[in-house]
Amino acid sequence: MRNDIKQILFTEEQIQNRIAELGKQIAADYADKNPLVICVLKGAVLFMADLVKKVDMPLEMDFMAISSYGVSTKSSGVVRILKDLETGLEGRHVLIVEDIVDSGLTLSYLRDTLLRRNAVSVKIVTLFDKPGGRKIEITPDYSGFEVPDEFIVGYGLDYAEKYRNLPYVGILKPDVYS
Ligand code: PRP
Ligand code: MN
Ligand code: MG
Repeated sequence: MRNDIKQILFTEEQIQNRIAELGKQIAADYADKNPLVICVLKGAVLFMADLVKKVDMPLEMDFMAISSYGVSTKSSGVVRILKDLETGLEGRHVLIVEDIVDSGLTLSYLRDTLLRRNAVSVKIVTLFDKPGGRKIEITPDYSGFEVPDEFIVGYGLDYAEKYRNLPYVGILKPDVYS
């Protein structure tokens, strides 16, 4: 699997250190708010698991599955809910956990959907932000790292469902998907 990676962008240690910082910040901002922390499956599953361990206060978790990419390396622009939340959002402070914001289409759709369900607040934490990919304006409230406009995999991010289990993040060799 490592042979398919052209370059490692973030090591396991860099990722974990940054997540610890984000967790502290979030705990300070959400103290006494009992936030509902929502993992956007599948990409955010590793980040969610590591992040909540670093948010040292009461919170609740729920999971949503959304897909806009399928097996392509480009967003289709059509966002589908594959699995919905189990929790009602009325009166809740919601924190969406994403692995990456690229075109912004997924999050912009998700944020609007959750606000329409009467959440008190909806904020976004993303581990990676690719501002060069935006098709719609959206700024995450918390962001781990900015990434270049290249297709990256690992730590939850897939290409055709593979590479999610890499503990680091790297750039895929173009011949893997061409
Ligand atoms: C990826 C990624 C984000 C979204 C970001 O999910 O995990 O959710 O795309 O792209 P965008 O900003 O251009 O919308 P994907 O649709 O591949 O589903 P997955 O999480 O199951 O891999
Ligand atoms: Mn995703
Ligand atoms: Mg994907």
